[in-house]
Amino acid sequence: MRKQIVAGNWKMNLNQVESLQLIEALKSTKNTSRAEVLVAPNFTALAASVEALKGTNIGVAAQNMHQAECGAFTGEISAQMLLGVGVNSVILGHSERREYFSEYGELLSAKVDAALNHNMQVIFCFGELLDDRESDQHFDVVTEQLTESLFHLPAAAWKNIVLAYEPVWAIGTGMTASPEQAQDMHAFVRKTVADHYDNAVANNCPILYGGSVKPANASLIFSKPDVDGGLIGGAALSADDFTAIINAI
Ligand code: PGA
Repeated sequence: MRKQIVAGNWKMNLNQVESLQLIEALKSTKNTSRAEVLVAPNFTALAASVEALKGTNIGVAAQNMHQAECGAFTGEISAQMLLGVGVNSVILGHSERREYFSEYGELLSAKVDAALNHNMQVIFCFGELLDDRESDQHFDVVTEQLTESLFHLPAAAWKNIVLAYEPVWAIGTGMTASPEQAQDMHAFVRKTVADHYDNAVANNCPILYGGSVKPANASLIFSKPDVDGGLIGGAALSADDFTAIINAI
C-alpha cells in the first residue's frame, strides 16, 4: 500500500523556543493515524526539533536547501548540513519559493538531484495559479512543472519522491480546492507519471494535497482515492488542529 503522509509546513513562523512548545503540545495530543507525520520548522529550530521528537512517530523536514555540496553561497544550507542534524526530508518547490525567490524548473531539478544523491526524501510542491485554472491551463502548467524538475530522474529515484499538489490560489487563502478538484488533479498527475514511467512508479508515489486544509475539510479531501495525505500550513501551527487533520486520514 502507498505511504500516507501529513506534513506541517511552519514557514517563517515560530522561533526555536516556540517550535519546542508546539512540539511538546503535539506530543501530548493523541495522534492515532498510521500516516507518516512530519513537521518542517525553520532552519534555526531543526536540530532542537529533531532532539525533542526522538522516540516519537513525528519526523522533521526542512523547508528548503541549496543544491551545492558546500562552498561560497552565503546564507545557504546544504543537504549534508541537514543530514548532520538528523533531517532527511526536505520540501522543495513550494510556491512561495517559486514566487518570492524565483526558484523554478531547472534550479529545482538541481535541488531534487542533490537531495536524492544524499538519499533524502523530497516533498516536491507544484500547482497552478488562479489565472491558469480560470483559463483552463492547470493541467498543462502542472505537467510542465513535473517535466522540468522531475522527469529527468530514473524510475528508481522515485522511491524517495513525494508529490504535493498545492494550487497557489488555495494557499493561505481559506479557499480550498474541492475534494473533486483535488482528486481530478491527483488522478491526472498519477496518470502523467505512469505515462512517463510506469504504473508501479505512479502507484507507489504518495501525492499530498495542500492549500487551506483544516480539521473541517480534511476528512473529505483525504477520502479521495488519489489523495495520500496533506501538506498543511496555517493549521499546522495549532497542535489541536494539526492532530485533528492527522487523525482525519
Ligand atoms: P495553508 O498552506 O495550509 O496555510 O494554505 C499550505 C502550504 O503552503 O503548504
